[in-house]
Amino acid sequence: MANRLLGKQAQDTTVLVTGGAGFIGSHTVVELLQRGYNVVVLDDLSNANPVVFDRIRQITGLAADDPQLAFVEASILDRAALERTFSTFPIDVIIHFAGFKAVGESVEKPLEYYWNNVAGTLVLLDVARQHGVKNIVFSSSATVYGEPDSVPLTEAAPKHNATNPYGQTKSMLEQILTDTYIGDDEWNVVLLRYFNPIGAHDSGLIGEDPKGIPNNLLPYVAQVAVGKLERVGVFGDDYPTPDGTGVRDYVHVVDLARGHVAALGWMAGASGTPDGGVVAGDASISGPAAADGTRRGVGIFNLGTGNGSSVIDVIHAFERACGQSIPYEVKPRRAGDIAENYAAVDKAREQLGWQAAYDLDRMCEDGWRWQSNNPNGFEGA
Ligand code: UFG
Repeated sequence: MANRLLGKQAQDTTVLVTGGAGFIGSHTVVELLQRGYNVVVLDDLSNANPVVFDRIRQITGLAADDPQLAFVEASILDRAALERTFSTFPIDVIIHFAGFKAVGESVEKPLEYYWNNVAGTLVLLDVARQHGVKNIVFSSSATVYGEPDSVPLTEAAPKHNATNPYGQTKSMLEQILTDTYIGDDEWNVVLLRYFNPIGAHDSGLIGEDPKGIPNNLLPYVAQVAVGKLERVGVFGDDYPTPDGTGVRDYVHVVDLARGHVAALGWMAGASGTPDGGVVAGDASISGPAAADGTRRGVGIFNLGTGNGSSVIDVIHAFERACGQSIPYEVKPRRAGDIAENYAAVDKAREQLGWQAAYDLDRMCEDGWRWQSNNPNGFEGA
């Protein structure tokens, strides 16, 4: 079967974005719409607010009835809804974000996490292949590397056991997607391993909107800055890092979103090395050269900046962005945290033609604009 991306311009390509109302999903939808792609968002709104669609239209200038953007409110576990979606829209490729993502909650509710993330993806893949759609970009995570043997982490670094069910679902789904290609080489799979996405669209109209008290550093810092929380707890200052606090590779969510657009181009054979370029030890699989010029195989890419920043670096960058001091206190280490991780970004640069453009200060400026304009997120908007 000819690949559905074959020879198509963005205007003729329809992208199903599962979880497209969420943080990374919504920013990716904006980038896709701005490049002319047709977008169908499928999202059950379990961790998102439909106001995001008004904001996406505001940013992109789309009228409410413009068919370039469609929304289906459904879970990836809802086979009938997926059947209808694939029958209604001429979907060419899937960008699959939908999934539960709270590390701590996943320890409390493992069955919910495995069911939603793993079983949901199985339903999605099954319905997709029945409709001849075999192109998928998957939202994976640097969590699949577990405790790194060394940094920067290349895509060839071994995967280690994740310390929580959320991370396990990402690792399992990478394997499931890889095996899916091995069993049927018409599939095109891209696994994008995100480092720590933060920031917001520079319009200040969309951004991260966690429910309840944030688990992640940036939304926590931002809520301290707007006065909703008293002070940041710094989880450990005795790590073997320059200032003793944990080091991560924070990446602007808009850069990350553009990485997905680059992945679509790579799949369609538009950029990167002609052979799919597997590096030694990398779990990527180069498929046979497809006669139609599109790629077959499994491409694995880190999406990060390549720079590590400590918790204290982040607090200071946010202070510069918001012009006020951010109180913090050092607390014990958080269970399951690693000292340091950051990405090797050469493969994404060489093969996807993608690299992060924004630095930590810009991430904090954009994050602050979003948070200060929308202190309660989308609630009450
Ligand atoms: N931290 C604090 N205080 C907080 C929250 C976090 O000091 O209130 C510290 C952490 O100890 C860590 C750093 O800030 O050193 C970043 O923590 P986050 O919770 O923001 O992010 P993680 O690196 O722990 O986790 C993120 C994603 C996960 C993903 C993981 C992959 O949230 O989904 O990266 O590496 F699995």
